[in-house]
Amino acid sequence: MDIKEIKKNAKERMKEFCILCPECNGRWCAGKVPGMGGAVSGGSFQRAFEKLKEIKIAMRTLHNVTNPNLECNLFGEKLSAPILIAPITGTKFNMGGYITDEQYSNDTVLGAIDAGTISMIGDTGDPNCFQVGIDAIKKANGKGIAIIKPRENSEIIKRIKIAEEAGAIAVGVDIDGAGLITMKLFGQPVGPKSLDDLKTIISSTKLPFIVKGILTVDEARLCVEAGADAIVVSNHGGRCLNETFAPAEVLKDIAEAVGKDIKILADGAVREGIDVLKYLALGADAVLIGRPIIWGSVGGRQEGVKVILETLKSQLYQGMILSGADDVKHSKNFSRILVTK
Ligand SMILES: Cc1cc2nc3c(=O)[nH]c(=O)nc-3n(C[C@H](O)[C@H](O)[C@H](O)COP(=O)(O)O)c2cc1C
Repeated sequence: MDIKEIKKNAKERMKEFCILCPECNGRWCAGKVPGMGGAVSGGSFQRAFEKLKEIKIAMRTLHNVTNPNLECNLFGEKLSAPILIAPITGTKFNMGGYITDEQYSNDTVLGAIDAGTISMIGDTGDPNCFQVGIDAIKKANGKGIAIIKPRENSEIIKRIKIAEEAGAIAVGVDIDGAGLITMKLFGQPVGPKSLDDLKTIISSTKLPFIVKGILTVDEARLCVEAGADAIVVSNHGGRCLNETFAPAEVLKDIAEAVGKDIKILADGAVREGIDVLKYLALGADAVLIGRPIIWGSVGGRQEGVKVILETLKSQLYQGMILSGADDVKHSKNFSRILVTK
């Protein structure tokens, strides 16, 4: 199955939920939450796309980088590339329901393993979504990461224990889900967390802990203080709050401030391998992929997910050769390959 066929299938199957625009930039789907878009005018999604686009690569071919290394280690796991699958839930109300949440979780967890990497699974107002994600991780002998909504502390800790029992590699909270429309629709209480809340939650587990949805240096520092192992610099695909900064425009400052103390992941608008290279050069240790994985699963199921990841990997490899970036483990030295408009 090739990527063209996968996208063609996804377009037919997602109907009015996603038309797979030539450029997936948040314009056509503005306001479609639930759906595939960004909240309100779609401004945060669009900015994530535009700010990443504004960054350009300095092409360099006078060097000896002929076979760059993509492999890296994260949370004690060896990955074929610094590319993971973002947590995504709500196949019915976000994607049109061609696949169930159970199928989506299996496709992503297993598709990621096929590509030598790891998928995160998410949490939403429908309690079934988290459970089927956990079941998928369990079936895959724990090879997955569970990201829980910012519910009451006791509810989060309950779900951390469920993830531990499933053998998950790591756990976390998408802290920016504090005011999500999709949670409100199900009447599920979520909200912001204090530093003490975060400390309580993190100290409840021995698993590596990820805080997803950080966009400022001060909050990145709080995550370090609370004892988190990683943050995801992310605006949740623009789905929580309109008019936020783009991950690409805040990542460098955050990485400079806390990059030595905590693992930094980033996501938002990664559509090709060169976008991964941009985030690495801005200071990320790894990136998460959101919407393109949905197309992979809807259009080609587990194999479709693998094809999307393998395509990103080969584009990243090519981009590293043509910019002289030798090894993703040296990404802290990649800044010279970037040009910002
Ligand atoms: C349909 C949809 C559902 C999502 N569900 C979740 C979720 O349950 N938990 C979560 O942490 N993030 C969720 N996200 C956000 C993604 O994890 C990720 O941050 C975002 O999609 C990255 O941007 P991209 O789609 O442009 O790659 C969702 C995003 C979309 C598009």
